[in-house]
Amino acid sequence: MTGTGPVTARIDTSRPHPARVYDWFLGGKDNYPVDEELGRQIMGVDGTARHIARTNRWFMQRVTRWLAGPAGVRQYLDVGTGIPTEPNLHQLAQRVAPESRVVYTDNDPIVLKHAEALLRSTPEGVTDYVQADVREPELILRRARESLDLARPVALSLVALTHFLGDEDDPHALVARLVDALPSGSYLVLSQLTADFDPEAVGRGVAMYRAGGVTLAPRGRAEVARFFEGLDFVEPGLVQVTDWHPELAVDESTDAGAVISLYGAVARKP
Ligand SMILES: C[S@@+](CC[C@H](N)C(=O)[O-])C[C@H]1O[C@@H](n2cnc3c(N)ncnc32)[C@H](O)[C@@H]1O
Repeated sequence: MTGTGPVTARIDTSRPHPARVYDWFLGGKDNYPVDEELGRQIMGVDGTARHIARTNRWFMQRVTRWLAGPAGVRQYLDVGTGIPTEPNLHQLAQRVAPESRVVYTDNDPIVLKHAEALLRSTPEGVTDYVQADVREPELILRRARESLDLARPVALSLVALTHFLGDEDDPHALVARLVDALPSGSYLVLSQLTADFDPEAVGRGVAMYRAGGVTLAPRGRAEVARFFEGLDFVEPGLVQVTDWHPELAVDESTDAGAVISLYGAVARKP
């Protein structure tokens, strides 16, 4: 694990943070009043926001079941991991294949504070946590190489991360740099907020995040598809996250009234 130090001192409770607001939406306890306040404000303008956060987490869970099962993936690089919420990615992967190796990365010190829960690997497998920003792909790759064999397929996941990057960060180039470092047979897993289906509600939510000092950049279908350039989509391709292999669901609920403003897909590197 890297990035250890006086973590508590670096946690800024004066303004909301994405990992902690998401934790509040998921019903977690690792958030502060300022995060809860923004979460409640967003629920006030879009009552389905909490359900949408859950559908994102369920997408990650279904994808991991598929990667560990039929796809046979044994190595994972998860960037923008979030505060541990069971089942975490390594638990799902190692349940199928105990020897699975997982490297987690996040830039928020609150995730580092709780990283211990992410490091409870099976004895046969490995989990590691790297405190890093996705805008530092070389650092992430260098540290990932300490636990993963980048000559063998890796599933790179950026689940609900890229909408926290503005266009000025060139998120497509960042994703491409990470994918470039992986061999043929690797996978990219990505979900991203979109205003394609419910522009008014998403617009109100974005305005609230921005007022709280958090960048939130919804993207249209073509822009999201561009993250997967040069890769082969796994069926059913780029869809609303709830439509990605719903038959793999375990303990999910539905909300018929919710418009799912999240695209998600999995694609294989040829
Ligand atoms: C909505 S949460 C998603 C967590 C998890 N991937 C999931 O889908 O359940 C987004 C996470 O991305 C992290 N994040 C945001 N910007 C980041 C950046 N520039 N570099 C690394 N992580 C970032 C946040 O701290 C947060 O933990």
